[in-house]
Amino acid sequence: SKALRVALAGLGTVGAGVIKLIDTNREIVERRAGRAIEIVAVSARDRTRDRGVDLARFNWVDDAAELAAREDIDVVVELIGGADGPALTLARRTIAAGRHFVTANKAMIAHHGLGLAGDAEGKGVAFKYEAAVAGGIPVIKGLREGAAANAIGRVYGILNGTCNYILTTMEAEGRDFAEVLGEAQRLGYAEADPSFDIDGVDAAHKLSILASLSFGSKIDFGAAAISGIRHVIAADIAQAQALGYRVRLVGLAEAQPEGSTTAGLFQRVAPCLVPANHPLAHVAGSLNAVVAEGNFVGRLFFEGRGAGEGPTASAVVADLIDIARGEYGPAFAMPVESLAEMAPAPAGER
Ligand code: HSE
Repeated sequence: SKALRVALAGLGTVGAGVIKLIDTNREIVERRAGRAIEIVAVSARDRTRDRGVDLARFNWVDDAAELAAREDIDVVVELIGGADGPALTLARRTIAAGRHFVTANKAMIAHHGLGLAGDAEGKGVAFKYEAAVAGGIPVIKGLREGAAANAIGRVYGILNGTCNYILTTMEAEGRDFAEVLGEAQRLGYAEADPSFDIDGVDAAHKLSILASLSFGSKIDFGAAAISGIRHVIAADIAQAQALGYRVRLVGLAEAQPEGSTTAGLFQRVAPCLVPANHPLAHVAGSLNAVVAEGNFVGRLFFEGRGAGEGPTASAVVADLIDIARGEYGPAFAMPVESLAEMAPAPAGER
């Protein structure tokens, strides 16, 4: 059968990782996909930078938006980033042109995911984003498909590797936030705007997506209450430890029962005290973890690498394999028009 023809928009760490993964694991990938997966075209701002992969074999375009309507492309993978701007233009044009769309862009999904998913459903194309939440951890599939039969009570986790690295390093070495920040950024996991990491915005983008998948509700990023880790000092961490706790940046979403004074969807990202024997206390360094509690499955715990070349590429290529097999349904828990509208539960009154 015919190859799935792919365009990559953006050739940073993840884009290079996708090329390397397909080169290295071609046989595994194509057996699973049932056909060849071929990268046909790429776009990136910088054509000359050495990315450790041979790029001369691909067609290059200057403007990523050109990839949307090329006749020789079946699916566009967007790795540009940013909630709006060129990433959103590319998403809208690709879907409007009746082509599949894969992205790692959590900010764009948090802000525009419902509209894009609705458009994709209208066109009968895939809109997939496994890489957008917790990088290599297959948590989108896990919640949307694996836990699909459950009523989920809560979903929560460590959703930002940069913050977890900072907090666990402060804890291990008794150092203050400002000292460790630069090291975390040198790991290469920081957002283009690093305040998105340390102020909790990146974690909240991911949380709003997990909440939608868990509760079958419309993404409501604006309803999340967000505080980051800027003000956590070494003494806070030492004090927490003395009491048997660890400080972790936790994103938590919980459906509050109908009829209660705080009915609705509670979403909060904040530095939290986690008991030392809770699995989240043991999530090391820049790792991510997600916990979901289902009424039949019980507690699920997902842990792994939430960023970086290999893990994020692993999630992107998994999406490509699904598309190659024609196995894709609605982007969220169900078609956009059936998602629930949940009132935000006020964080301050919980
Ligand atoms: N800046 C993110 C993090 C990268 O530190 O976890 C992955 O989304």
